[in-house]
Amino acid sequence: MVTDPFSLRSPLIAPSILSANFAKLGAEMEEVEKFGADFFHLDVMDGHFVPNISFGPAIVKAARASTDAYLDAHLMISEPVRYAGPIAKAGAQSVTFHVEAVTDPAATAKELRKIGCHVGITLRPATPLETIMPALDLVDIVLVMSVVPGFSGQKFMPEVLPKAREIKKRLRADQRLEMDGGLNAQTVAAARDAGVDWFVVASAIFDHPDRKAALAEIREKIHG
Ligand code: DX5
Ligand code: ZN
Repeated sequence: MVTDPFSLRSPLIAPSILSANFAKLGAEMEEVEKFGADFFHLDVMDGHFVPNISFGPAIVKAARASTDAYLDAHLMISEPVRYAGPIAKAGAQSVTFHVEAVTDPAATAKELRKIGCHVGITLRPATPLETIMPALDLVDIVLVMSVVPGFSGQKFMPEVLPKAREIKKRLRADQRLEMDGGLNAQTVAAARDAGVDWFVVASAIFDHPDRKAALAEIREKIHG
């Protein structure tokens, strides 16, 4: 269990609770933590920026009460500035906004910095690298989406790997590269080779019949 993922240089696994059973969220988180999860990724969706609705501050608060691990919120919402505060107040330690949702990413990053938590920027697979450049120095995390955001269980899109590699070259030592979507024991090695630090995994852990083995196999591959 990792409370400050920025204090480590090793690759880390962040299960996304999107594929967990919400009726027993605490037990689900406790189990994967016991099996080696480093911290948790929280997918907030508003049914507007993406065609799916997941959860908001109430579930973030429930997750916070269930673990001491770092909580990383991925805001797939049209109004990140409006809701990042409540998400952080509920217990998220980072808030990552989509560059496609805002008109001025640098201004958004500056605004979110005022909350006092870590700030990330993310982009859809089809969104070019140049769009995030104005905000690159103002964020702690760059999250490269390796599926079209909205749902777990989609197929990994290897075409995002060159973009991830290019971003990694431009990051400072205190910034982290995260990847999200379609990661599993078969795809994480390619992400690792592109320079990914943090690996978000939902279905390949929570939907696996043997979660312990799934985590161990992913861990082995990311350390390759
Ligand atoms: C997708 C979400 C992801 C998702 C990943 O919109 O941002 O975090 O839960 O799910 P898997 O690992 O199943 O692709
Ligand atoms: Zn996500």
